Amino acid sequence: MNNAMEKLIFPKDFLWGAAGSSYQTEGGNRNADWWAWEHSQKREMALEAKGLDPRGFCSGEASDFYNRYDEDFGLAQQLNHNATRFGIEWSRVEPKEGKFDEAVLDHYEKMLQSAKFHGLTVFLTLHHYTNPIWFAKMGGFRKRQNIGYFLRYAKKIVARFSQYADFWITINEPELYVMQGYVVATFPPQKKNPFLALRVVNNLIKAHNQISQYIKENYPAPVSMAFNQVDLEPSGFLGEFAVRVLRYFTNSYILLRTISYCDYIGVNYYFHHHLGILGFRKHSAHKHELTDRGWGIHPEGIEPVLMSLKNFNKPIYILENGIADAKDTRREKYIKDHLYYVHKAISQGADVRGYLYWSLTDNFEWEEGHGPKFGLIEIDREDLLRRKVRFSALKYAEVCKNNELIIDKI
Ligand code: BGC
Repeated sequence: MNNAMEKLIFPKDFLWGAAGSSYQTEGGNRNADWWAWEHSQKREMALEAKGLDPRGFCSGEASDFYNRYDEDFGLAQQLNHNATRFGIEWSRVEPKEGKFDEAVLDHYEKMLQSAKFHGLTVFLTLHHYTNPIWFAKMGGFRKRQNIGYFLRYAKKIVARFSQYADFWITINEPELYVMQGYVVATFPPQKKNPFLALRVVNNLIKAHNQISQYIKENYPAPVSMAFNQVDLEPSGFLGEFAVRVLRYFTNSYILLRTISYCDYIGVNYYFHHHLGILGFRKHSAHKHELTDRGWGIHPEGIEPVLMSLKNFNKPIYILENGIADAKDTRREKYIKDHLYYVHKAISQGADVRGYLYWSLTDNFEWEEGHGPKFGLIEIDREDLLRRKVRFSALKYAEVCKNNELIIDKI
């Protein structure tokens, strides 16, 4: 190795891989509230009013992961991944209230067996933003009495698949689910109501704590939520005060109420904001390079995020971190720069045990449709969803294989 290079070695048995979610990859989830929303007149008209073609904003067949999972897990294995994250789609398993579809459960079992066959440790998500239409119509997580429906589904999945799931993720980013659905209203049910938002947050907390308790009492696999953690930097007058207040809501409110029901801490890291008392500058766009999604790139921020979680004395797994980069000119650097700061946190005592890049393949990026390309693997939508491994994926594969990051010595 060249003298100007340094090897950063990651802890033994570190988990390396990539993540995805059921709705964003599977395709054809017609019984989900998102599907109904994508095809609603209101949504179509809103897109058309902006001069956009609604077809580009429907999940459709997504990346057809529901049928091509074996190919995707095979590619992950070839890329030296030893872990994966994917999810179960509630609306598929229970398309009508109380009617569980056994054929779908069998299908998911094959999916899980395939992941295992390809040598992947499985992080399995129970809820990632979407709900069955019937559940949404009943008021979803706005009603406390509806939590029981989620628990019934979740218990069924846990009981059926505990032999395959090495880690459980109960609910993905409740903060964002609520923010997007009930505050800024870019996700269904598109309600702008802070009181409802708070109610939903608290019901999600209860749902997590109850299913986690059930898992702990009956099964060995560790449980967490996937917590969206934001790096906040004070700027200007009273910035420090503003940061403290906002950090409580973005990073701590849910974490503190669920942490005793988490065996590990699952972290999603994308965001860094500059914050002053007069408001915050989104993604610090004035300072940083932006991704295709318009988000500022700030790898340094993952270090303070991980260091603040260290105090909980629980293992930490990064469940999402990634970039929309259609040209694939920045992804390798993005990953390596973040890993550099992850390693820095580890060397200061943060017990980080795994890193999952978001995402394995290009997928349906919610309100942005099929535009943003996060995948290590391109999905060619013009060519029968053909999988094409991006160059950055090969570079990340070297890190995964050697369990080390090679950096230029400064
Ligand atoms: C979500 C993913 C999403 C990603 C990129 C995360 O917060 O969990 O579903 O695709 O961000 O926007």
